[in-house]
Amino acid sequence: MFVTFEGVEGSGKSTQIGLVRQWLASLGREALVTRQPGGCALGLELRRILLDARNTHLDSTAELFMYLADRAQHVAEVIRPALDAGRDVLCDRYHDSTVAYQGFGRGLDVERLVALGRMATGGLAPHATILLDLPPETGLTRARGRNQAVGASQSEGRFEALELDFHQRVREGFLELARREPGRFAVVHAAGSPEDVFARVRAALEAHLS
Ligand code: TMP
Repeated sequence: MFVTFEGVEGSGKSTQIGLVRQWLASLGREALVTRQPGGCALGLELRRILLDARNTHLDSTAELFMYLADRAQHVAEVIRPALDAGRDVLCDRYHDSTVAYQGFGRGLDVERLVALGRMATGGLAPHATILLDLPPETGLTRARGRNQAVGASQSEGRFEALELDFHQRVREGFLELARREPGRFAVVHAAGSPEDVFARVRAALEAHLS
């Protein structure tokens, strides 16, 4: 099973992925947990460039191709081999993030991005996508608090620093993608305690477990 987790900054993806991993382990399924960007050696280098708050001059198209390069390498090197070996894969962000952030957020052509996604992934689509939906105000407050706590406000703050309007477009973009593919997406209300949110995530995933 290939499951991706999407959402605005601070929507609680990593917490939920950790809880899903534990739950699957209790069922005897050792899932591979990974993320984009940064789930392979090339991706880690790209992540450093992409999220560096000093890179304010990055051109939107240059940024796009770095996310796509990360994805192509990560699918080929990490995700496909794991799925081929019969493992579950839980991935923090995937191509829906590119459509939401670079398309709906930055204004690049959405349909063209969908086509580029097929190229970057070799057509590998998730079986299920959990969209952790939250008003961006709430998510950004969480994300900024976390960045300060780990001293990352300089190096990992490029997207958090963008105006609220941008994050609202990203949220709406994710919701639009979920409306287009209701069979793949589960939209989960991400406010509340991690346990409450997890109960909703688990209910959505149970349908996909075979
Ligand atoms: P993260 O903090 O959830 O790991 O995500 C890294 C940042 O990169 C986040 O602000 C969203 C952004 N992003 C894109 O803009 N496009 C993409 O394709 C991906 C995967 C992430």
